[in-house]
Amino acid sequence: MSEIAVRVDHVSKKFRLYHERNQSLKSAIMRGRRSVHEDFWALKDVNFEVPTGSTFGLIGSNGSGKSTLLKCLAKIYYPEKGSISYNGKIAALLEVGSGFHPELSGRENIFLNGSILGMTKKEVTRKFDEIVDFSGVEQFIDQPVKNYSSGMYVRLGFSIAINVNPDILVVDEVLAVGDAEFQEKCSQKFVDFKKDGKTVILVSHAMAAVREMCDHAAWLSHGELVAVGEAEPTIQAYLNSLNQGEGL
Ligand SMILES: Nc1ncnc2c1ncn2[C@@H]1O[C@H](COP(=O)(O)OP(=O)(O)OP(=O)(O)O)[C@@H](O)[C@H]1O
Ligand SMILES: [Mg+2]
Repeated sequence: MSEIAVRVDHVSKKFRLYHERNQSLKSAIMRGRRSVHEDFWALKDVNFEVPTGSTFGLIGSNGSGKSTLLKCLAKIYYPEKGSISYNGKIAALLEVGSGFHPELSGRENIFLNGSILGMTKKEVTRKFDEIVDFSGVEQFIDQPVKNYSSGMYVRLGFSIAINVNPDILVVDEVLAVGDAEFQEKCSQKFVDFKKDGKTVILVSHAMAAVREMCDHAAWLSHGELVAVGEAEPTIQAYLNSLNQGEGL
C-alpha cells in the first residue's frame, strides 16, 4: 500500500459567472452571440497530499472552496488545471440527498447507489441488512426518499458509503444534520476506519470535532491553500486568523 492515499496536484477549478440573467429579449438579441461572463477561480493551484490511514480535515470559511475540492475528489467536477491521483477505492458523501433519486424508495436507492458505487447486485443484497441497520431508517425503507427528513437522508447515504468498503471516504459537513446518537456512531466508524488503515477526508466547521477526529488538516481561503500539515497547528492558525478578522 502506498503511503499517499490522495495526491492533489496543482488543482485549479474555474466557474463561469454569468451576469445577464433576466434581461430583456431585446438586449439579448442586441448582444448577439456574445455572452457576458466572468471567470471565477474557486480553487487556485491547490497542492497537497493526504497520507494513507490519516483522518484529514478540510477547514476554511464559507465559500473558500472546500465542497468544490471534495467534488473534484469525487469526480463530479473536473479541474481545469492540475490533476488528482488516488491509491485505492473512493466513496463520497456530499450534500444532503445527492446521489439519491427522490421518487424511489430507500430500498431501491440502496441498490441504485450501491451499483453506482461499484457494487454488484449480489453484494448489495448481502450487505442490505447491515446498511439498513446502521442507518436506523428501517421503518421507512419502502417509502420514497423525498419524504425523508434531512437526517434520514444522511443516515442512509452514510450507511451506504461505508458499506461499499472504500479505502478512502470523503464526507462533506452533511453529518452535522444527524442527531447526537448518529454522530457518535459516525465518529466510531471513523475510528474503525483508521484502525483498518483507511483514509477519511472530511469537511467540518465544528473545530472541536476536527480537533478530536483529525490528525491532519488543510486550510483553504478564497480557493487557495493557506496551510496543510498536522491538524492542531493548522486549526490554530485558522482560528487565529478568524480572531484577527481575516477569516473571509
Ligand atoms: N457550480 C458553481 N457555479 C458557480 N460558482 C460556484 C459553483 N459551485 C461553487 N461555486 C462558487 O465557488 C466558491 C466556493 O464554493 P464552495 O461550495 O466550494 O465553498 P465551501 O468552502 O464549501 O463553503 P461552505 O463552508 O459554505 O460550505 C463560492 O464562491 C461559490 O459561489
Ligand atoms: Mg461546502
